[in-house]
Order: sequence, then structure tokens, then C-alpha cells
Amino acid sequence: MLIKMYNDRIHRPELASKIITDFEAAALIKDGMVVGTSGFTKSGDSKAVLPALAEMAKENPLKITLISGASLGNNTDGKLADAGALHMRMPFQVDPVLRKHINNGNIYFIDQHLSETSEVVKADTFGDMDIAIIEACQILSDGSIVPTTSIGNSAVFAEKAKKIIIELNLAMPIALHGIHDIFSAGVYPKRVPIPIVIPDNKIGRTSIELDPAKIVAIVITDQHDSPADIAEPDEATTNISNHLLEFFNNEVKCGRLKENLMPLQAGIGKVANSVLRGFINSKFSNLTMFSEVLQDSTFDLIDAGKMNYASGSSITVSAKYREMIFNNLEYYKHKIVLRPQEISNSVGLIRRLGVISINTALECDIYGNVNSTHVSGTHMMNGIGGSEDFARNSYMSIFVTSSIAKGGSVSSIVPMVTHVDHTEHDVDVIVTDKGLADLRGLSPRQRAQVVIDNCVHEDYKAQLQDYFDRALLRGGHTPHLIEEAFKWHANLAEKGTMKFM
Ligand code: COA
Repeated sequence: MLIKMYNDRIHRPELASKIITDFEAAALIKDGMVVGTSGFTKSGDSKAVLPALAEMAKENPLKITLISGASLGNNTDGKLADAGALHMRMPFQVDPVLRKHINNGNIYFIDQHLSETSEVVKADTFGDMDIAIIEACQILSDGSIVPTTSIGNSAVFAEKAKKIIIELNLAMPIALHGIHDIFSAGVYPKRVPIPIVIPDNKIGRTSIELDPAKIVAIVITDQHDSPADIAEPDEATTNISNHLLEFFNNEVKCGRLKENLMPLQAGIGKVANSVLRGFINSKFSNLTMFSEVLQDSTFDLIDAGKMNYASGSSITVSAKYREMIFNNLEYYKHKIVLRPQEISNSVGLIRRLGVISINTALECDIYGNVNSTHVSGTHMMNGIGGSEDFARNSYMSIFVTSSIAKGGSVSSIVPMVTHVDHTEHDVDVIVTDKGLADLRGLSPRQRAQVVIDNCVHEDYKAQLQDYFDRALLRGGHTPHLIEEAFKWHANLAEKGTMKFM
């Protein structure tokens, strides 16, 4: 009876006996377990079992180590955190409630390069993975599963976990089958090359292989991904976008780039999304993307005929775009591909393809070091995500940020960043609403002056120039006034502003 209801979704009839409720499946998760879950930037995540676990944990306390692809949607991370169900979380999150618990020291968080999580799982760093929860839209006759709007680390979780819970999501169209390209380079010492030479050469399977004997539960769901938060471009993000387009125009004029540029990667957040949108009215065409997250702006570029192909690990879009994409999946199948994050973020591929990476900074310093994660050096915002996988290995590594934050009480350009995610060696270009600093080919002292001249808000320019001038008097390859380097942040903590006057 059950199998008849789902015969277009489950092509192994014997698995019908595994269909149970979300709470029954959650009860399989015990205190101390290491759990892997699908989900990458809020897409393709567990929508039933983890929320049920959070409910159950309120009555029956337990703590797990939870490893995902990237962030989860539906406030699931916050619910688990508030229920006290998380001992350790990795590799990325964007949830304000979880963030609070991490910063209070209630939950351990490992902020990890997204390309490295699969390595940690393959190396059994946390011991065996007890259970994986993976959202799928179909179970095929060979036992493999078709993932939904993200892949993240699901393939490696399916391989490594002792038991697997499938969330079969009826809201996800069966037509998603064919959009994925699943490949693993294997394990040491027999790793193989990943034979991708352009973003659109598919090399793998369209479903995740797994041993059906490991499936302990199938939970039927019918719920869409949490929609992406899309902020409309404002003056600052429009200015950033214009500065960047002017820079690319000049690169083309100088013959260093062609009008299709190189494959683009764009980070998360309102600034990166708005920058990508800027390409719509530019002269650039035949663009491609080798990135992690396919956002609304990716589909705008495809629909505007500007982008030929986009490779990522998730589709993270607003509700309106989701409907449009799901209604046109046969068309988009020829335009996009989703890959495991060990492929989308493979540092070897990023270097081979010559990706131009565009990520967002919380703060940058005069020498080009970038902090993307820790507010005032201590408090976790989201995590590094894949930004450094790309920054270190890209053809050109660009960081964007508004010149000021918090209504002007914070300058995003500071003497010394309070936490380093991207070192001066990994950063080629910094762009703010005030202008663009091309740091390529410059030594530290040269870089500092270019950053001060081009990127700093007028309220902080004299203050920063004064710092640099006095530091120069002390000498050094990278001059600093060590006792003053964090004075701006200390002033912010004490007086609510980085401004001294
Ligand atoms: N000090 C304190 N707070 C700052 C700040 C600074 N120097 N710079 C920005 N902020 C605050 C903003 O005020 C805003 O706070 P609010 O939410 O309370 O308004 C918040 O940080 C986000 O900044 P915003 O300007 O809205 O930028 P964004 O949405 O583009 O996000 C990052 C910026 C850095 C937080 C985000 O891009 C990120 O998490 N990056 C790291 C991961 C990454 O790059 N991934 C890409 C590959 S997966």
C-alpha cells in the first residue's frame, strides 16, 4: 500500500518497510553520536528529523556532534542549540541563536574550510560517523539516492555513516534527477585526479551510491527549503559593483582578461549577491561560474543571456526564483550543475580553472589581511565557509565590503585586522563603496597607501593615514604601531565608535 503511494519515488519496494515518522527516526539518534546531515546554505537540509530531535531533546537531554555541508535552514541549528542538543557543530552556520550559544561558549564550533570537511570525515577524525540524515527526491532501483537542491557532503556521509536516514521530500521535483554530478577522488594513497577542465564537463554520477542495507529509516516530508534572504542593492553595494566592473573593463582593455572573464565564484551575503547582479547591465558575456552557491543573481545572469553555465553545490534562492527554477528544470539542467563540495571547492580545480573569486570581508587592514568571521577578533559571525578555498587558489582573489558598518561607528578598513582568515598573500583586490585597491604586484608599504587612498571612508581617512605615517617612522617591512594596532577596536568597545575625534 505504502509503496504504491510512493512508487515514483522509491524504486526498491522492500524499502517501503523502512518508512517511519520523523520522531521515530529521531529516536535512533543517541547521546554522544556523530551525525552527518545534508544541507548547504539552507538548501537540501533535514527538515523533519533534526527538528524532531530538537523537540525530543527538551524532554530527554542528549548532545551530538553535528556535521553538515554548510548552514541549515528552518532555524534548525537554533532549535537544536536552544534544546542543548549540540555538543559540537561544524563546518559553517548562519543561525543567530546558534551563534549566540557558540559565542557564550555553550557549544563547540569548528569553523572549517568547506573543502576540508570531507577530508576530516574520511580520516575518521571524530571516530565513526554513526548516522547520516540525507534529503533525497528519489531512491533508485540500484539503491542510490537522488539528492535535492544541494549535495554538500552527502556523498561522503552516505559512504562513511554506519546507518542512514533518508528524508524523502515530495516537494522536491523528480525532475531534479540529472542536475547533479557526483564524483569522489577516492582515499589516500590511491587518490585519482578530478578530470574537470571547464565548469560544464560532467564527470560523475547523477545519484549518490549507497548500500541500501544501511538505510534504517525513510521519513516522508513535503516542505520547501527556507528561502534565501535577498536584500535589494543599496548605494554602497551598487558603488562596489560599479568599481569592480570598471576594474574588469580595464583588465579587458589591458588584454589580461577577455569579455567572458574567467569562471566566477561569489560568496554569500548581500554584498556578493549584489555585485553579481551588476554584471547584468555590463558588457561582459558568455560568463561561467565555478562556485558553491547558485543564488538568485546566478539565474538572473543565465536568463539575461550573460552566463552560459554555472557549477555549484547548492541552489539557494528566494521563493519566487525557486518556483521559476522548478517549473523550468529541463531548461536549467543544461545550464547548471550541482557537485559535492569536495569538488565545488577543490583547491586544485579552482587553480586549474583560473577562478575569479569575490568574497566578503567584515574588515580588511592596510596591508591586505582580511577578517571574514570574527567581530572585533572574538565573536563568531558565520564562519569562513569556502572563501579561503577560493581566495588562496583563485586566479584573482577579490574582497568586497562597505567602507563602514554599524551606521559609521565601525570602519571596515583598520590598521590591523583582529582575526586573519585571508592573509595578505591571498588577497589581490579590495573593493569598498569608496573605491578599489589593486594590490597585485605591490609590496606591503605600497599596498597600505593604495588601500588608504582608495577604500577608506572619509570619516576615517585622516586617522588611518596618521597611523600609517607614524608607523613608517618606526620602520619595518610591514610597519605597525603594535601598542596602537587594536586601539580602534578598543575604542569601539569602550566608547561605541572607532573614531577618535
Ligand atoms: N564589525 C562589526 N560588524 C560588522 C562589521 C565589522 N567590521 N562589518 C559588517 N558587520 C556586520 C553588519 O553590520 C551586519 O550586521 P547586522 O546583520 O546586525 O546588520 C553583518 O555584519 C553582515 O554584514 P553585511 O554588510 O550585511 O554583509 P553581508 O551580508 O554581505 O555578510 C559576511 C558579510 C562577511 C558576514 C558574510 O559574507 C560571511 O559570512 N562571509 C564569510 C563566509 C564566506 O565568505 N563565504 C563565502 C563562500 S561560502
